Amino acid sequence: MLARMNSKISAQTLRFVRRGQPLALHHVAPDRTLLEVLREDLHLTATKEGCGEGDCGACTVVLAQAVNGQLQYQAINSCIRLAHSVDGMAVFTAEDLSAPTLKAGASPDLHPCQEAMVQCHGSQCGFCTPGFVMSLFGMYQNSGGGQGITREQAQVDLSGNLCRCTGYRPILDAAEKMGNLPLPDGCGVDEAATVAALKALKPRQNGDENYLRPTTLAALLQARTAHPKAQVVAGCTDVGLWVTKLHKRFDRVLDVTAVRELQRVETYPHHIAIGAAVSLTEAFAALVKERPQLKTFGQRFAGLPVRNSGTLGGNVANGSPIGDSMPLLIALGASVVLMRWKKTAAGGEIAHRELLLEDLYTGYRTNVMRADELLCWIKVPRPGRHASSAAPGRLKQASAPSGGSEPNAVGSVGAEELMRVYKISKRFDDDISAVCLAIQMTLNDGVVQQVSIGAGGVAATPARARQTEAALRGQPWSADTVMAATAVLRAEFQPISDMRASATYRQTVLGNLLQRFWLESQGLQGINLESLKTLEALS
Ligand SMILES: Cc1cc2nc3c(=O)[nH]c(=O)nc-3n(C[C@H](O)[C@H](O)[C@H](O)COP(=O)(O)OP(=O)(O)OC[C@H]3O[C@@H](n4cnc5c(N)ncnc54)[C@H](O)[C@@H]3O)c2cc1C
Ligand code: FES
Ligand code: FES
Repeated sequence: MLARMNSKISAQTLRFVRRGQPLALHHVAPDRTLLEVLREDLHLTATKEGCGEGDCGACTVVLAQAVNGQLQYQAINSCIRLAHSVDGMAVFTAEDLSAPTLKAGASPDLHPCQEAMVQCHGSQCGFCTPGFVMSLFGMYQNSGGGQGITREQAQVDLSGNLCRCTGYRPILDAAEKMGNLPLPDGCGVDEAATVAALKALKPRQNGDENYLRPTTLAALLQARTAHPKAQVVAGCTDVGLWVTKLHKRFDRVLDVTAVRELQRVETYPHHIAIGAAVSLTEAFAALVKERPQLKTFGQRFAGLPVRNSGTLGGNVANGSPIGDSMPLLIALGASVVLMRWKKTAAGGEIAHRELLLEDLYTGYRTNVMRADELLCWIKVPRPGRHASSAAPGRLKQASAPSGGSEPNAVGSVGAEELMRVYKISKRFDDDISAVCLAIQMTLNDGVVQQVSIGAGGVAATPARARQTEAALRGQPWSADTVMAATAVLRAEFQPISDMRASATYRQTVLGNLLQRFWLESQGLQGINLESLKTLEALS
C-alpha cells in the first residue's frame, strides 16, 4: 500500500464508534482512505488490502448507522472509501467479532459467522477470509442473526468477495449455517451502547474544513459555490480509484451523502425521485419495486459492497460510456435535476433546472453541469408514464425539484409496458459492461406505439438509439420489423475496440440483444444460449 501520510494537506478530526466506544483521530487528511486509517493509524491489520480498487473484497468492513433507534448495517470496501465519509458512524472490522480471550492461552469464542467458516472449511490461505467474514457479519446482522438466509441470497451478498483457494461452495455453506450456531457471550454487537455512542457524536459543523459533509441541501449548494475546486464525492467507488490507483490528492472534498433531503426516494403519481445521496442498493430496490424484471440487472451492478457505498447520482454524474444505469434510465425516460445556490437580495435561494438524462452528456465524460451545480435528483417515470415523446435535445425548467406537476409525462395509464435491460460482461458478477442495451416499448394492437432505447459501451457517452426507435415506431411488432431494426441498430453506433470487446463484437451483440427482446416478448423464457439460433440464421 502506498503510505500516503498526512503531510502538506491540512487535516481534521475523524470520529467514529468502535466496539460501542467513541473514537477520535486527529489530523486525518481529506483524501485518506478508511483502509489506510484502520491499518496504518489504528494498527487494525485484520482488514486486508488485495486489489485496492473495490474488486476483491479483502478490505470489507461493516458500517452501522442508527435509523429510528435501530442499527442498520452495510458491508463496504474500505480501500476506496474516504475515511471522513464514515464520520459519525459505527465501524466494525474482523477484530470486533470474537469475544476477548478470557484465560491466558485460551482461544477466544468465535462469532457464528467465523465459527461457520471454520466448520465448513471456508478458509485456506486466509487472505480473503476477513473480508468474507465481514460480508457474512453484515448479512447476519441484517437478517436478525443469520435467519432465513438462502443460498441464492448468500450468492448475491457475497458477490463482491473473491477467493482463490477454497472455491465458493464451503463459504456459501457457512452463510447458510451461521444462523444455526449459538452466539457466545461477549461476541457480536452491544446495540444499546453503540446507538448511545452514535447519538453522542453530534454532526460536525462545516466551516472552513477540508472534508465538507453538509447535512442540508442549502449548505451543500453554498459549499459548492464557495469551494468550486473541491472534489465532489458521493460513494467514492469511482473517485476512490483515482486516489489508490492514480495517486491523485485532494486539498478539499465536498461529500454529498450526508444531505438529509437527498437521502430519500420519493414516490409521486407519475414518477419516483431518487436523491443523489441514495445508495445504489436502495436506488435499485426502488426501481425493482416499480419494475420487478430489473432485479437481476440490479444485482449484476458491481458487488454488494460497491452498491452499498456507490450512488445512482454518482454513476450518472460520472458519465462513463459503460456505466450501467444510464442506458436503463434513458430507456425509462428519466430526467436529472441540477441545482445551484443563487444569490438574491434576500441572501440566496436554490435554483434548479431539469433535463432528460441523455441531454446531460456532451462528450466522453463531459456534461452540461455548471461549476456551481450539483446533480441532486434523478426522476424516473413510473410504468406507463414515459416522457420520451417530448422534443429531443432541449432543456426544460422543472416546476418543482423532485415532485410537482409533470408536463412531460405521456402514455396511457395502465398500458402494458415491455421493458428489458441486458448487460453483457466478461464475468456475471462484479464486472462492468462491454455492451448494455435497455428497451422500453408500448404496443397498441400489435403496433409499436412508443419505444425508447438506451445503449452503453457503443459510443463516447451513454446514448439513445433514436434511429432504431424511428425504425420501430408505428411498425407492426413482427420478425420482419425486428430484422430491419436490427440492421439499423448495428449501423447506428461506431463502437471502439478495447480490452472489454472488439467493435465488431459490440455491434453484433447489440443487434442480437434486440432480437432477444423480440423473442422474449413472444413468450420465449429461459433462453438456452447453446441451442438458440438468431433470426438471421433462421431466415
Ligand atoms: C469493483 C467495482 C465494480 C463496479 N461495477 C460497476 C458496474 O457494474 N456498473 C457500473 O456502471 N459501474 C460500476 N462501477 C463504477 C462505480 O461503482 C459507479 O460508477 C458508481 O455508481 C459511482 O457512484 P459513486 O457514488 O461512488 O460516485 P463517486 O465515485 O463518488 O463520484 C463519481 C463522479 O461523479 C461525481 N459526482 C458524484 N456525485 C455527484 C453529484 N451529486 N453531483 C455532481 N457530481 C457528482 C464525482 O465528482 C465524480 O466525478 C464499479 C466500481 C467498482 C470499484
Ligand atoms: S482491497 Fe480489494 S476490494 Fe478493497
Ligand atoms: S482462502 Fe485463500 S484466497 Fe480465499
